Amino acid sequence: GNEVRQFKLVLLRESAVGKSSLVLHFVTGQFLGFQESTIRAAFLTQTVCLDDTTVKFERWDTAGQEHCHSLAPMYCTGPWADIANEFFARAKSWVKELQRQASPNIVIALSGNKADIASKGAVDFQEAQSYAVDNSSLFVETSAKTSMNVNEIFMAIAKKLPKN
Ligand code: GTP
Ligand code: MG
Repeated sequence: GNEVRQFKLVLLRESAVGKSSLVLHFVTGQFLGFQESTIRAAFLTQTVCLDDTTVKFERWDTAGQEHCHSLAPMYCTGPWADIANEFFARAKSWVKELQRQASPNIVIALSGNKADIASKGAVDFQEAQSYAVDNSSLFVETSAKTSMNVNEIFMAIAKKLPKN
C-alpha cells in the first residue's frame, strides 16, 4: 500500500517574487506573464509521489502585499540586484523567525526565483547556498518562466519531510 502523508506548505513572503507563479507552474505547467497579486491566502492541495510514499501538500499561497504590485511600482523597476538582495535579507529574517517559533520538524526551502532574469550582482549563489547549509535549509534557484527547478524544489521539500 502507498502511504499518504499530509503536510502544510506555506509560501512566504515578499510580493511579486513569484510565489503564485511557482505553484501554478508546478501544478499546471503554465506560466502567465501577468499574474494578479494574491489578495487572500489561497488554499490548494497537491500530491507528490515519492518512491515509497505520497506526500500531500496542503498548500497556502500567501499574499506578499507589499511593494511591487501595489504600493510602489517604481520599486520593481529598479536594479534587480538591489531588490533581490534586499529580499534575500528579508528571507533570512523569516528563517530566523521560523527557527524560533515553528515546529522543529519544519522544512525550510529558499527559492531564488526569476533565475531567468537574475544577472550578475543578484544574490550570490555560493553565499545563498552556504547560508542554506548553515541553517539546515534548502536553496534552489528557480524560474516559473522557464521551468527551471520548479518540480525539483517541491520534490526536494517532500523528500526532506519527516517520515512519521
Ligand atoms: P503576491 O501574490 O503579490 O505576493 O506576488 P507573488 O509572489 O505571488 O508573485 P506572482 O506569482 O504574482 O508573480 C509576480 C510577477 O512576476 C508576475 O508578473 C509573474 O509573471 C512574474 N514572474 C513570476 N515568476 C517569474 C519567473 O521565474 N521569471 C520571470 N521572468 N517572471 C516571473
Ligand atoms: Mg501571489
